[in-house]
Amino acid sequence: MSAGAHLVRRFSQSLADRGPDPAGEAWLLGLLNDAEAQLYRQMSAADRSHSLRSAKCPALAGDDQRVAAALHDVGKIQAGLGTWARVGATLVGALFPSALLGRWANYREHPRLGAAMLREAGSAELAVVWAAEHHLAPRNSSLPGEVAAALAAAD
Ligand SMILES: [Fe+2]
Ligand SMILES: [Fe+2]
Repeated sequence: MSAGAHLVRRFSQSLADRGPDPAGEAWLLGLLNDAEAQLYRQMSAADRSHSLRSAKCPALAGDDQRVAAALHDVGKIQAGLGTWARVGATLVGALFPSALLGRWANYREHPRLGAAMLREAGSAELAVVWAAEHHLAPRNSSLPGEVAAALAAAD
């Protein structure tokens, strides 16, 4: 899926979202360590839904991949932007990358921030690397091709 199509789909999901179902969330929390669960709980309802949908993707194999999929966007909690501000940050960032400041810059930097938070949380290397690389083209990923492809399909 193109970056634009991905953004439009995520945007429409965000507007309607009331948060993940409790049973799905309980399943996911069972896969996370305590520090990861604390980070997960700080995500917005819409981001937790995206997280759970990603973790449940049938393309994924094994709990490590499910956790990596669930936590890839965790860096967004440092930006704390609502849906409309994210659209602004994404558009401005695409057009004038150096113009972003403060929380808007943090939003654009969410892969790097998320990877650092997961490293701190004692996450598996796969989760750290996928958080850092999830906006790269699959061919630029440092992960094995089939792993990057499965994780990208889940995003
Ligand atoms: Fe992301
Ligand atoms: Fe995502």
